[in-house]
Amino acid sequence: MRDVQGGNCRPSVPSQLGKSSPAARSAKGEVDAAAGRHKGRGAAEDAVDSVAGQSRAAAEHAHIAGGQAHGGGCAALGCAHAEDRRVAERDRDHWRGEIGLVAILGVTYTGMYEPVKEIAAALDKIEKKTGFNVPIHVDAASGGFIAPFLQPELEWDFRIKRVHSINTSGHKYGLVYPGLGWVVWRKREYLPDDLIFNVTYLGGEMPTLAINFSRPGAQVLLQYYAFMRLGFGGYRDVQARCRDVAKYLSSAIAKMGPFKLWNDGSDIPVFAWYLKKSASPNWDLHDLSNMLRQSGWQVPSYPMPDDMPELTVQRIVVRSGLSFDLADSLLEDMRVAVDYLDALEGPLPREGREMRSFAH
Ligand SMILES: Cc1ncc(COP(=O)(O)O)c(C=O)c1O
Repeated sequence: MRDVQGGNCRPSVPSQLGKSSPAARSAKGEVDAAAGRHKGRGAAEDAVDSVAGQSRAAAEHAHIAGGQAHGGGCAALGCAHAEDRRVAERDRDHWRGEIGLVAILGVTYTGMYEPVKEIAAALDKIEKKTGFNVPIHVDAASGGFIAPFLQPELEWDFRIKRVHSINTSGHKYGLVYPGLGWVVWRKREYLPDDLIFNVTYLGGEMPTLAINFSRPGAQVLLQYYAFMRLGFGGYRDVQARCRDVAKYLSSAIAKMGPFKLWNDGSDIPVFAWYLKKSASPNWDLHDLSNMLRQSGWQVPSYPMPDDMPELTVQRIVVRSGLSFDLADSLLEDMRVAVDYLDALEGPLPREGREMRSFAH
């Protein structure tokens, strides 16, 4: 199996899908960021066509994903002895056979959904034309615990025949502490045999899918508890509150003058924004992140993936516990910081400043 999502296994690798995903088009001004979720989806077919077209003489067990794909998928493929290779470096003649496509429900950079249904429809057309049957894996790390509650009408899951497998993270919107992830396959036959180890243990035969053998089960228990304790309605309430806080924050940030929203948090409760061209040249989003850190807020700034690294965005992830009160106090600190930065008479020094966007 080969992963052609990216050479360096970080979520920032060019690919055909990455170039024309709704998020990519949004940055080019083709999509109104706030309404981006349903616009720009015509790109899916072109992107898939282009990838699959190249893959006709290509792709031996290849996995194709957008440049915004998360490194976690890469690591998983690595465990399955997947070869890691950049799309741009693909040697067409070298790749033969089957390909799979990864669609993301809740892109790490922006929180937006990729259009799984439209991608599947594009793949249907391609199959008609070429006989190529390309299955989809949905990386629903965040969206898997949001869409069923907040957008139940959105088809992104096993309602779409082409979707063979889905992963989601219990420790994100599943409301469990780290580290718990889930992966489900549509049918037993889609679970690759080489992911299963048959272990002889104390005289018994045991098939296991675990990457390491003995590990704590506390998170699984907690997930079970949360399901039982909150139920469907409880999860819906928690996620809806997060979305309401996210939309409240995003609309207030949009009104702050220097910022343009990329999206508004109506997919998963995550949204990003960037500086307008008209913003003061004396400071940038990294300066704002640094100022907010002084007030105890981690609001990261980072460049977008490979096909638009010149664009820096800032992002907020709203999770359960970020109340309206806390949101108000964050907004107040942002206003104070922006007023201070806007009042600067010259540019802040660039050398030696803190550019850390993310730390565990
Ligand atoms: C889209 C996406 N996929 C995968 C992951 C990794 O998930 P986990 O933390 O469960 O390993 C993330 C985490 O940020 C993500 O955003």
